[in-house]
Amino acid sequence: MKASLALSLAILAAPFSQAADVEAGRAKVAVVCAACHGPAGVSVSESIPNLAAQRAGYIEAQLKALKDGSRKAPIMNAIATQLSPEEMANVAAYFASLPGAGASAKSDFLANIAKSSVAFPEGYKEKFAKYHTINFPAAKQVRYYYANDVAARAAREGKALPDGSVLLAEVYSAKLDGSQNPMADEKGFFVPDKLVAYTAMEREAGWGKDFPDMLRNENWNYAVFTTAKQPRPGVNQAECLACHKPLDKASYTFTLKELAAAR
Ligand code: HEC
Ligand code: HEC
Repeated sequence: MKASLALSLAILAAPFSQAADVEAGRAKVAVVCAACHGPAGVSVSESIPNLAAQRAGYIEAQLKALKDGSRKAPIMNAIATQLSPEEMANVAAYFASLPGAGASAKSDFLANIAKSSVAFPEGYKEKFAKYHTINFPAAKQVRYYYANDVAARAAREGKALPDGSVLLAEVYSAKLDGSQNPMADEKGFFVPDKLVAYTAMEREAGWGKDFPDMLRNENWNYAVFTTAKQPRPGVNQAECLACHKPLDKASYTFTLKELAAAR
């Protein structure tokens, strides 16, 4: 009696007592997580937490919460949904095995993931269709969205955006009134003041091949340009890829519906 009870308890407990695979965790981190958390758990920027020397149980609990959505963080929600429980245990064990780092230590971006092939689309104002406008009250900005013919035609026909598609957004600060609130026009859109930057996404054959599947958005590349139309330094393309990744049914764009409806 006693023996069989002990045996069935052991069987019940088996899935949880399996040792995590630190080496498999290291390999996963090297190609995906390293783009933001660094290959040894020392992150690439102030807005991303270090994970080196973090407790494995805490890391696993956070990944589960990020996967089921009870913890909201768009970039990590997109990453965690793609991890199995085994992968979570493995990366957690790997990060927990690493020494912690000093407060000022920072890792470099992963070169293959940070590199974007998008060039500034000169002449877009004449050649592209302006298809949408969005107010950003918290940032006190207004953004205008443009698409080239290839993208606009595909969207109109209800097709996925093919290679050759280019989308560009102009980011403007809003004109402020006396109490520092954005002024709006008769349609409710903020009145633009100064151009702040451009963001762009473009897809061409072969452009996604250097990205791991967990981050790849088919052939899309992303870029931010300064007002002088130069690539903005310090942009980690991994963040763009991660956040747009769940939009795979909408050609990885947030505004496909608006583009399809634009005349
Ligand atoms: C594109 C960048 C990016 C990638 C790639 C990425 N992360 Fe993150 N991660 C973040 C950011 C940003 C946060 C902070 C989220 C927040 O604001 O709550 C975060 C938070 C976390 C946290 C919570 C830490 C805490 O202190 O609560 C864990 C755990 C984590 N990431 C694990 C991973 C793992 C494992 C991978 C690889 C499979 C990974 N991340 C890949 C950007 C990234
Ligand atoms: C935290 C999530 C998030 C991240 C990270 C992110 N985006 Fe987006 N992106 C959005 C959302 C939401 C929209 C829809 C409207 C908007 O915010 O402009 C959008 C819209 C866009 C658009 C207009 C086309 C579309 O998808 O509707 C472009 C171009 C774009 N983003 C480029 C970038 C680039 C370049 C980066 C990286 C530097 C980036 N995005 C990072 C969430 C994100």
